[in-house]
Amino acid sequence: METFKPEEYQKRRLALLSLMPLGSTACFPAADNKVRNGTANHYLYRQASDVLYLSGFNEDESTLVLHKDRAGKCQTLLFAKEANAKEDQWNGARMGLDAARKLGFNRVHESRQLKRVLNRLLKETDRIFISSGANLDAEESLIATAAAKGLQPTQIHCTSRLTGPLRLVKSPEEQKVMERSASIGTHAHNAAMLQCHPGMTENQLRACLEYIFVMNGASAPAYSVIVAGGENAYVLHHPADDTILADGDLVLVDAGCEYLGYASDITRTYPVNGVFSPAQKEIYELVLAAQKAAIAAVKPGITWSELEAVVEDILTKGLKKLGFRGQKAGDYMPHTLGHWLGMDVHDVGSYETGKGKAKAERALQPGMVITIEPGLYISKSDERAPEKYRGISVRIEDDLLVTADGATVLTQSAFKEPADIEEMMKVGKGMREELGEGQLVVPPRIRDC
Ligand code: GLY
Ligand code: MN
Ligand code: MN
Repeated sequence: METFKPEEYQKRRLALLSLMPLGSTACFPAADNKVRNGTANHYLYRQASDVLYLSGFNEDESTLVLHKDRAGKCQTLLFAKEANAKEDQWNGARMGLDAARKLGFNRVHESRQLKRVLNRLLKETDRIFISSGANLDAEESLIATAAAKGLQPTQIHCTSRLTGPLRLVKSPEEQKVMERSASIGTHAHNAAMLQCHPGMTENQLRACLEYIFVMNGASAPAYSVIVAGGENAYVLHHPADDTILADGDLVLVDAGCEYLGYASDITRTYPVNGVFSPAQKEIYELVLAAQKAAIAAVKPGITWSELEAVVEDILTKGLKKLGFRGQKAGDYMPHTLGHWLGMDVHDVGSYETGKGKAKAERALQPGMVITIEPGLYISKSDERAPEKYRGISVRIEDDLLVTADGATVLTQSAFKEPADIEEMMKVGKGMREELGEGQLVVPPRIRDC
């Protein structure tokens, strides 16, 4: 997948090299092609985000290496598999080394040469950075190669300290792609609201979202779609299953798509039958008020703790007003207010800056993309909660681009006002009645896909 122009990737590699100390090597193994079950049955392949970020190169069994010698001379190297007609007939065509040589690397080698070439680079290496998480076997092998060359554990680091600061602030090109990812995600949430009704399963609602994602240009969901009816929503990451969505329950839908390698991450909670009960609405409106206040406070310079304080205050006071006694908001919101968003749904990048005494919380800055996602999760067996609220769980999540003077909500058009949700679901009911049972209510595709 080559999303951006070769110059953009080159610019990113140069930026990364500029962060590397003299005498260092950074290795980025491709994601492995994970077996799902049986033989020759793999999960949908997804390249390691760092490899995509730095090269757009989408093949497995490859490795990207950036090296800066002790005199400051830099090279970029790609190790890839040669095309092979027989293998490619089974697994799809590889680009081949000659074509890869046109991508702007200083050197392109066959993957088998990695260890030999790395051993040479390691003679000029006092610190090695290895990307982690996407390919454990490759990581272990790189660590073993470095150790065999005499590098001590204190000389072996994770690449996230290099890629984090770069990936945290999105370029104008990345911002455009993320806006698109958010608008496809938004469109799918609105479509799911039209479709939702008692008697359908969580999986069926998931299928509706995934259909709209793909029909509008996304490759796949960015993470396993969460559709949680009723009490299932108490489980923060409940994967959609065969649970039947019941009349009178809420459904929590946390779903985002991946568009050109970039994630959206959106949650909406709404009544399965299209009308909030008074108790559901009270909890919902409290979460919504907290979310809106946090969104209004987002601006460059503000920290996550400051945003969390805004939410904590509103939720704690609101719970008290609703008759919850002595509990803090934190008792009902076990997760943080939000996170960085980008190629990974929980994107790379430290939440702190500096070291030792200079350590500080990282403040928001223009170009960052974040989620704001407060929630309240009330267990059905919580005897401290007024009875009418037990079993109600609500999360509302939007994606924001931090701008020079505030933020743009990229997912603004996913309905979240109770009156809009109810109106929208009434429209959906009418459309479904007209179409007949079992038909999918499909809103028009987003233009320019
Ligand atoms: N979808 C996972 C999260 O919201 O963080
Ligand atoms: Mn999130
Ligand atoms: Mn989410």
